[in-house]
Amino acid sequence: PPGADARGLHIVITAGPTREPLDPVRYLSNHSSGKMGYALAASAVRRGARVTLISGPVSLPIPDGVERIDVETALEMHDAARRLAADSDIFIGCAAVADYRAAARAEHKIKKRKGEQGMTLKLVKNPDIIADIASRRGPADRRPLVVGFAAETRDLELYARDKLIRKQLDMIVANDVSNAGLGFGSDDNAALLLWRDEEGEGSENLPPQTKSRLAEAIIERALYCLGVRPTQ
Ligand code: PMT
Repeated sequence: PPGADARGLHIVITAGPTREPLDPVRYLSNHSSGKMGYALAASAVRRGARVTLISGPVSLPIPDGVERIDVETALEMHDAARRLAADSDIFIGCAAVADYRAAARAEHKIKKRKGEQGMTLKLVKNPDIIADIASRRGPADRRPLVVGFAAETRDLELYARDKLIRKQLDMIVANDVSNAGLGFGSDDNAALLLWRDEEGEGSENLPPQTKSRLAEAIIERALYCLGVRPTQ
């Protein structure tokens, strides 16, 4: 395909939701289908990259040429990300990671309590996977170019810029997930890209289009930030 050549690069991508168990039959999760992350993986492979997809539970086929590592919880995703990031050139966090998990997973199915109209679940914070990867520095701990996503329902640019800085990312893909037909679960998406590289800061507005086409533009920009220039 036209555009930058990614041969020789290893790109690690997280995709899909995480699933946080409450008991043997219940969990907390979200509506991520994995489509955006899988489209990124397919696009990176088309450019010749070696691609590892760390995937939460989704019902999508593995794109040709991609190695997939299946995980369920945020802690499992974190373990896999830590293991793979040191050996990657670009790390893209597209997964919708649950911010919280149950403080304790009940061994047996939680029963309804007679006479009680409500119940309180105790949650604890999950690690911030992408912030952890982005904070790794130093020669022994090689740091990839780190690309995060921001799923927002208001003040898209403001919150995305805050995540770019706070999580020490190189680039962020901000999507407005309150838009019907875009974002979670759909085939289409739109995004505002914000990045910081040696040449300074930049932004690009990507209008609504298929996740596949959007993925091409995101991979292209990430490669550019890494210093890979399009070939003729
Ligand atoms: O899967 P689809 O149905 O195709 O939908 C795509 C999508 C809407 C899920 C995707 O485009 C998207 O926005 N993914 C990020 C969702 C999200 O959790 O956003 P956030 O703003 O809460 O998180 C910001 C960033 O931190 C993300 O890169 C996220 O992966 C990362 N994160 C968040 C929490 C956490 N504990 N660890 C993380 O690494």
